[in-house]
Formats: sequence, structure tokens, C-alpha cells
Amino acid sequence: MMIMMRKWMILLGGLLLTAFLLAGCFDEGTPGAKSSSSVESLPVKIETPPVTTSTTERSIILGFSQLGSESAWREANTASIREAAEEAGITLITANAEQSQTKQFEAIRSFIDKKVDVIAIAPVVESGWEEVLQEVKQAGIPVVVMDRSVKIQDPSLFVTLIGSDFYEEGVKAAKYMMDKMRHTSGAIQIAELQGTVGSTPSIDRGRGFRDTIAGKNQFQIGLSQSADFTQTGGRKAMQAFLDLPPDQWPQLLYSHNDDMAIGAVEAIEEAGLKPGQDIIIISVDGTRRAFEQMIAGKINAVVECNPLLGPLLMQATKEIMAGKTLPKRMVPSEDIFPQELAAMELAHRRY
Ligand code: AHR
Repeated sequence: MMIMMRKWMILLGGLLLTAFLLAGCFDEGTPGAKSSSSVESLPVKIETPPVTTSTTERSIILGFSQLGSESAWREANTASIREAAEEAGITLITANAEQSQTKQFEAIRSFIDKKVDVIAIAPVVESGWEEVLQEVKQAGIPVVVMDRSVKIQDPSLFVTLIGSDFYEEGVKAAKYMMDKMRHTSGAIQIAELQGTVGSTPSIDRGRGFRDTIAGKNQFQIGLSQSADFTQTGGRKAMQAFLDLPPDQWPQLLYSHNDDMAIGAVEAIEEAGLKPGQDIIIISVDGTRRAFEQMIAGKINAVVECNPLLGPLLMQATKEIMAGKTLPKRMVPSEDIFPQELAAMELAHRRY
């Protein structure tokens, strides 16, 4: 299979190709390591250097609206961006929106007021961005959309989108499931733990999975619940599934991220069942914690989703400031890891 691939690739090609490939070799160091920049919650007073000189005389200023800190993936993503900014000599102003789109709007408007050079946004949900992005455009500030996507009519409102192919992640999860269950006869009851309602990964991971099992009547998603990409949410949702009469319990759990899967593992064990055996578990992200759970036999497979987007974001920021043209979409190549390979891979996980 395509296990162990590590290089980055650009979907559409373009001037960032070399930088993108190099980004795959970039050692991020330990996620969560201390940095002089920090993610703060709004409302926040942010000290920034006076913007009175040209960027040839001072460092580029990047305003970054992070959507929250709901998962291990998100922590690794934030750390990657902080560390890469420091490495690149870019002044980073960050604001953590704590899952609130309104707070993201506030942060973006504060970046406009501060006259930052570039704005990067990890959008909590897909819709509702047109108005604020028009304001950014009018202010003449280029936008990089990162991780999740935005649903807008006017594609000129952002320069590039750097992030995973979430649809493909759902496809990979479904294909693994069909292979894993190939010797099982009769209907297979699936429970799904969705991420944040209206967010790109939740929408696309659900679609990719459903499209792949379409017409295969053996596979039935009987239970589906949003658990907001959090461990607590995953645990509660799984508890609710297991409160149902036993004949409605799922044989398989498809979780849109590792944190929810780990919460579900806790609930399954509390119910006296064996996660990974009594209920097969497939997750998305590929965090170290999920690999440890795979090694313990509690999760059966994880689809990788790479959060280490910092180096590429900084490269894109520099190239935008240099007036270069960027591809509209940049997607990292990602793998799926079955539990049989988890022990071998654990040492290589960087998040
Ligand atoms: O947008 C990426 C998703 O958001 C990750 O899969 C999840 O863990 C995070 O919270």
C-alpha cells in the first residue's frame, strides 16, 4: 500500500513546488514547544511593531486566526505555525477563536486595523465568509486559507488554500473498512462520530465515506452524532450509543478524528466491551496518542491528516509578498495506517 510516504506534493503545481517538497523534510521539532509568539483568546490586546516602514526594512507581519484548540491535531497545527514563523523571521500575530466564527471575524478585522501584510485563516465552518473577506480585499491584504475551506462565490477573495483532502480521507476510511470486514456476512452496523457541524472535514469525511459505500447494502450507518472533534464529546456520544438496546450497538465506529475515537474507547471499556475487537474503530488524524491506542489493540486503523502546515504557510506568505503567483490549492499527500504497522511507525510520528 502507500504506507510510509512522507513527501509533500502540490496538487496543481506552480511556483511553490520546490518549497513544498522541502517542507516535507522540515523538522518541526516537538509540537507545543515554547515560542515567543503565542495563541491568545479574544478579546486580546496584541502588541505589534509599528507599521511605518516597508517590508524590505522590517519583517513581514502575518495575522493568523486559529479556530480553536479542540484536539491534539489543532495543538500540533498551532505549534507548527508558531515555530515556522520564528524560523522564517516572520512576525506572527495570532488569535484563538475558541470555535466561534464571530471571534474569527473580530480577529480578522483587528488584523485589518493593524495593517498586517498577510492574513491566514483556519475557518471553523465553511459558510458565512464572503462579507469579511470582501473587507480584507478592500484593505488590499492577501488571504491564505489554511486547513479547512470556505464556501464563497468570489474565488479572488483568497490567494491559496493549504490543507488536506478530507473527502479522500473519508474514502480511505471506507475502503479500509470494506477490506477489514470482507469475511463478515450480514449487515454491518456502523456508528459515525462527526466533527464540528458545518466544518469542511466533517462534511467531506462524511461524504467521502458515504460515497464509497453507496450501493453496498451490507454497510449501514445506523448511528451518527456530532461530537465536535473533542475527546469528551466522543466519549459522551459513544456512551449514548451504548445506552441503546444491545441489538442496536454498532459493530464498527468511524470517527472523524482521533480525539473523539479515544473518548469512544473510554466509553466502550466502561461498558465492559473491548474496543478494537467487539467494536472495530477507524479514525482520522494519526496522532501519537492514536498510534499508542493502535499498539494496545484498541483502534484498528487511522487515516493520516497532517497538521504540520507551518513551513508551507510561511513559504506562501513570503512568496505572496514577493509578488509571486501561487497555486490555488495545495494538498499534502497522506497515508492510512492499519494497527499492524503502528509499532513500527510510532517513532516517526511528529505530532
Ligand atoms: O480541520 C482538521 C480537523 O480539525 C482535524 O481532523 C481535527 O482533529 C481537528 O480538530
